[in-house]
Amino acid sequence: MKLTLKLLTLTFVLFAFTSKSFAQNLDKATLPEQNNSKIQWWQEAKFGMFIHWGVYSAPGRGEWLMYQEHIPFSEYALLADQFNPQKYNPKEWVAKAKEAGMRYVVLTTRHHDGFCLFDSKVSDFTAPKTGAKRDLIKEFADACHAAGMRMGFYYSLQDWHFPGVLPQGSPVGASLQKMLADQAHEQIRELLSNYGAVDILWFDGLTVDGPEAWRSKELLEMARKLQPNIIINDRSGLPGDFATPENAVTAQSRPWESCFCMNRTWGYAPNDRNYKPVAEILRLLASCASQSGNFLLNVSPDGDGTIPPEQAEILKNIGKWMKLNGKAIYGAGPSPVVAPNLGMTSRVGNKVYLLIQRWPGTTVPFAWCGSKVKSARMLTTGQYARIEQKGDRVWLHDLPQTPPDPWLNVIELTFDGEPKASEPAYR
Ligand code: GLC
Repeated sequence: MKLTLKLLTLTFVLFAFTSKSFAQNLDKATLPEQNNSKIQWWQEAKFGMFIHWGVYSAPGRGEWLMYQEHIPFSEYALLADQFNPQKYNPKEWVAKAKEAGMRYVVLTTRHHDGFCLFDSKVSDFTAPKTGAKRDLIKEFADACHAAGMRMGFYYSLQDWHFPGVLPQGSPVGASLQKMLADQAHEQIRELLSNYGAVDILWFDGLTVDGPEAWRSKELLEMARKLQPNIIINDRSGLPGDFATPENAVTAQSRPWESCFCMNRTWGYAPNDRNYKPVAEILRLLASCASQSGNFLLNVSPDGDGTIPPEQAEILKNIGKWMKLNGKAIYGAGPSPVVAPNLGMTSRVGNKVYLLIQRWPGTTVPFAWCGSKVKSARMLTTGQYARIEQKGDRVWLHDLPQTPPDPWLNVIELTFDGEPKASEPAYR
């Protein structure tokens, strides 16, 4: 019993590890020539919505349900027959993303269970051929295109529903692997041919067999041929265009995006009450943006297609903040002027944003500043501060005693010319 448990944990860790460690190692790998103009919109966008949705959303015990509860496919398949989301309205999802200040949306077209939300000629385990009897990706794509929202497709290479794949964790054998890879290639072709412009391809679920077994190079070449402007993540086992640290902010020397759950589960799990407070979510977003990274925040609609009210509320609050403070996020990168006594700093052109986590009171001090601060203004209220600057030390006076924003207060600094750190800069 103990041994089985250990073995199970080991396989679980192995699978989780392969998808993540590849991403980490790839950072050191030689990157193929990257067309910077293709990824520029994404790097400026900074903030996107991740959506985990599939037949697992109905029971509401997360997206790993089939594996974790060791459900045989014959039983799991019943979920697909019952999966008929009556309240599915992707227009609403996209509207919520927009309202939250998100500039792209990435949806799970197929997760590790192999269930496809789209129509596929090479699988019967799809929404149009089971309970829903419709192509849910078509509706999603139409909603994104109509709203001018950039659209991403998540696709898991791993496919547990395929006979012989489970238990996972060891190579599946050449002939089965070929069938799996053929299916994946065909489905990527379908996804990138049948739904208009696709902006992002977000792979996941690379197995221990590695990128050769999935013919990832060929897969990426096909993807780029079908969608010349597409950007691709690093979880096919190849570097792709951007790295994907998961539930961690890990700045990298190449384009990167941290994806985060709002609670601790990607798929719908109503009993997971571990929601991050809005202030924490905004801290993560600001932390990514101020290090040139992106932030992909997950929502988990229920089996009927509704985004849970707690998540909708978080999105609404983030949207309120973004309306006032988005300037500190969109197109941002690291600032040479830092203020570790206050919190984080980001830079957009000649503006530096103090993202203040420890509000000091009516005077906000910072230092190691090598250029002249012309003006300082709170983004929440529009109030200007009186500036005192002596050498590289700066004091912003006449500010409120208690911070006006309940989550994260931002002061915009306008410089006379380029913002610079003093010499030697703060280390
Ligand atoms: C992991 C998990 C998966 C989740 C993904 C999000 O690979 O297996 O459930 O979809 O990360 O990044």
